Amino acid sequence: MIFLWLILLVPIVYLIFLVFSVRETFFTERPPYVATDSRTIRAILEELKTKAPAFICEPGCGQADFLRLAGRIFPQAELVGLENAPDLRLINWIHYRLSGSRIKVLSVDFFKFDYQKADLIYCYLNSPTMARLGEIFLKQCSKGTRIVSRSFPIPQLMPDKILEIKKKKVYFYNI
Ligand SMILES: C[S@@+](CC[C@H](N)C(=O)[O-])C[C@H]1O[C@@H](n2cnc3c(N)ncnc32)[C@H](O)[C@@H]1O
Repeated sequence: MIFLWLILLVPIVYLIFLVFSVRETFFTERPPYVATDSRTIRAILEELKTKAPAFICEPGCGQADFLRLAGRIFPQAELVGLENAPDLRLINWIHYRLSGSRIKVLSVDFFKFDYQKADLIYCYLNSPTMARLGEIFLKQCSKGTRIVSRSFPIPQLMPDKILEIKKKKVYFYNI
């Protein structure tokens, strides 16, 4: 009997997550989970590799693929992802915390994080979010901080470079 309840529980929990994520995607400004593909990440890292960062931050990191590949190129860098979707938090906890990875994924709202220490920030979010984060980055980040945003420009900043990778624009900024 308990086994039967467990079998029923899995699709019910999945359905609850699905309803929440559909609601957030269509009825709020929250960016949904869509991952950056590894070819794009490699092309971005190729552009960034000439200067080693000490602290890389990925607000809304999803499954932290950018941090994983960046960690191979910058073995000394501190790698911090920010993700507050409950399902991804669980996946990341299993993937990164239990495996003893050096990637730290924090379960926080990225609007409430302090970006002062970050000297490289990677974002793949949406337009309203980049406008809000732009204000925060301008207040908190120090001179020399590099910010990369896929698809969505930061309205407060002028990009140093714009690359087209797999038909999507990628904006490179230097504070
Ligand atoms: C478009 S996905 C990008 C995932 C990852 N950066 C990548 O490029 O593969 C955006 C992510 O931001 C997360 N997110 C949205 N709002 C957030 C918030 N306020 N705080 C933390 N994470 C958030 C979503 O759950 C989602 O995983």
